[in-house]
Amino acid sequence: MLPIVKISVIGCGYLGAVHAACMADFGHEVIALDIDAAKVERLGQGIPPFHEPGFEDVLKRALASGRLRFTTDPSAIGEAELHFIAVGTPQRGGSYAADLSQVDTAVAFLLDHARSDEQPVVVAGKSTVPVGTAQSIADRLAEGGLDAVVVWNPEFLREGYAVADTTRPDRVVYGLPEDAERGEIGRAALDEVYRPIIDSGTPRLLVNYPTAELVKVAANSFLATKISFINSMAELCDATGADVTRLAEAIGHDDRIGPKFLQAGIGFGGGCLPKDIRAFMARAGELGVDQSLTFLREVDSINMRRRDHAVELAAQMCGGRLVGLKVAVLGLTFKPDSDDVRDSPALDIAGRLWGRGANVVATDPAGADAVRRVRPDLQIVDTADEALQGADLVMLLTAWRDYVALDPAHAKSLVAVPRIIDGRNALDPTAWSQAGWDYRGMGRTASTW
Ligand code: UDX
Repeated sequence: MLPIVKISVIGCGYLGAVHAACMADFGHEVIALDIDAAKVERLGQGIPPFHEPGFEDVLKRALASGRLRFTTDPSAIGEAELHFIAVGTPQRGGSYAADLSQVDTAVAFLLDHARSDEQPVVVAGKSTVPVGTAQSIADRLAEGGLDAVVVWNPEFLREGYAVADTTRPDRVVYGLPEDAERGEIGRAALDEVYRPIIDSGTPRLLVNYPTAELVKVAANSFLATKISFINSMAELCDATGADVTRLAEAIGHDDRIGPKFLQAGIGFGGGCLPKDIRAFMARAGELGVDQSLTFLREVDSINMRRRDHAVELAAQMCGGRLVGLKVAVLGLTFKPDSDDVRDSPALDIAGRLWGRGANVVATDPAGADAVRRVRPDLQIVDTADEALQGADLVMLLTAWRDYVALDPAHAKSLVAVPRIIDGRNALDPTAWSQAGWDYRGMGRTASTW
């Protein structure tokens, strides 16, 4: 049995809610705080406010154990010995930089309510922040009179795998203060909380603050670069008749390169990769080393070019004009197994097609509600069959299993014209071509080899 640690988690978004439930499931006592009363209410009833496989079970189990509570009352964090900061750091309006206002609010809550009368409290930052933030939080807490050991403990969770990534991460990183004695307090506290992870032999790296902060953005930049690299190869493949999926397979056999994150298509989106690489560039500029990250500008622009390419290809396949044509859009979320449409390439493309005069009829198994909030003008139907009915063009934009499994012959019986753009290279070009479709992938064609 673990010694129970009393924990607060500030911020109940994706990261915070999953972290709070998993930590309670580990056996700790967790109070999770958010200013959004509706979200807190739902979470407290065991209803996840977002689509995440496996989360509902952990949440319900943690609530039933009595070790997890959700609240909007910041004074409730006063009992905790360890506080996790898990608030959002979205892109600031009109700028590439991160908006740190939620971090500032968390610091204010800590100064008002955290208690360090008998021993220092530990404050573990999990949010993705510009390098330098951990030290500035430590300074502000000290100036405000709270004896806090700040540890920077970045999170690498992927949507769709959030529970597994939280409970069985590839590695844990602790960014510790320079003062060795205080660093030891932070290390011991996190080891205690993460005991099941540490005991299972997960690599644990002890580093300084800036390293921990950079690890997160470096990892995301690398992933984004890998995707844009393969998308730039897709452009070359389109120009030469090569097949980017076979090219990715071939280079991926080299284990220095590896097969993952080489899926060419309409590019990356979501609440992390796009804003994190932009915030990283903005921070590099502030630090006077913007040249070090100019390649990320290219990564971003290759990524945005994918969306232009998909829309141009749609127009080209339809004889140059989209006005009045019915386009069936399959998938709107930024990736499958998620209801997240933040910076979704699929939604952006659907909106652009609509802007070009197409009669867009879209469908998505999980993202429809979110889309209705941000794009109420888009027509959304419940099933792929409804979307396909009478379509002049079909675009597969998010590779949900059901869409990938569509039968080309059945789909052909529904549409007006059998034309399909496979924006995720998820379909079998030969099967679709043989069924009579004009199939176009992203950097691939139907070919004998
Ligand atoms: C990402 C990181 O993977 C995670 O470690 C970090 O903590 C948060 O950001 P997430 O945003 O959940 O996670 O999504 P991810 O699975 O990384 O996909 C990001 C985007 O890239 C999606 O739009 C996906 O469709 C796209 N993608 C991914 C590709 O276009 N090609 C690929 O090969 C892989």
